Amino acid sequence: MSERGHASDGRPITVPRLRSMKQQGERITMVTAYDATFARLFDEAGIDVLLVGDSLGMVVQGQDSTLPVTVDEVIYHCRAVARGTRRAHIVGDMPFLSWQLGMEQALKNAGRFLAEGGAQAVKLEGGVDAAPTIERIVRAGIPVMAHVGLTPQSVHAMGGFRVQGRTEETAVRVLADAEAVAEAGAYALVLEGIPTDLAERITQAVHIPTIGIGAGPHCDGQVLVCYDLLGLTPDLKPKFVKRYAEFFEEGVAAARRYRDEVRAGTFPTEAFSFGNVKKSEAEPAKSALSLVQDLRAAYGPKG
Ligand code: KIV
Repeated sequence: MSERGHASDGRPITVPRLRSMKQQGERITMVTAYDATFARLFDEAGIDVLLVGDSLGMVVQGQDSTLPVTVDEVIYHCRAVARGTRRAHIVGDMPFLSWQLGMEQALKNAGRFLAEGGAQAVKLEGGVDAAPTIERIVRAGIPVMAHVGLTPQSVHAMGGFRVQGRTEETAVRVLADAEAVAEAGAYALVLEGIPTDLAERITQAVHIPTIGIGAGPHCDGQVLVCYDLLGLTPDLKPKFVKRYAEFFEEGVAAARRYRDEVRAGTFPTEAFSFGNVKKSEAEPAKSALSLVQDLRAAYGPKG
């Protein structure tokens, strides 16, 4: 695809545009982002979609799972990402139990991501069971990206972060989930942690773009957690992650050089300083006595 026809032409990425990218065979790029600086970096790189994922619980907050993340926290990060973004499409992730308590809760929370967070869509994890909620949110004018397969908010039900749909029986269930959310009106679908051929089957079966993570090469697009992509998670290297940089190692090396220079007194030098007070502008220093006299004159007893 030429640069002119490709989504990196500078025009904002919208829901209709993402839909047409599938029809045109243009692959969709998506990464997570949690703050304005990273959002700006990925926006500048021409990434199509920025997901303010509840993965922030693990990579930003240092939690073991995404379960403790709240709606307020994701919205806070959405606002930061929106400030750093000009072109990319921003999706706010609906965290654990933020929509399951009833339609009113689901609509209210989904709306907050757009009204308060500056997102253009929400993502929610769930298949057949989530379909009625997706339908209702979409009817309210809020675009929904669905998420099936390995759904991290169900970590305990799955018995860990495990690949889903490995047997024909479970694969059929994941396919049914995908079809249900597409039918309910989701405009895109994240496929996480499923076998390659199942992801291909789903991508052919649904009319909406599929965006894979640990789902092989046949999806309509790909998403990675930005800390994984940039090599900021030294202790974690899942099979599906490709690191495009080693920011953690580079950051440690840079911080060590800084530490050494400060200790050695070689930073900061004059080149990084604001020079000296100009002689003509310098007021003669007042003596302590004249300061006391000034204060008495201003605030002391009159007469
Ligand atoms: O929260 C997240 O980062 C996600 C992606 C892994 C799809 O849901």
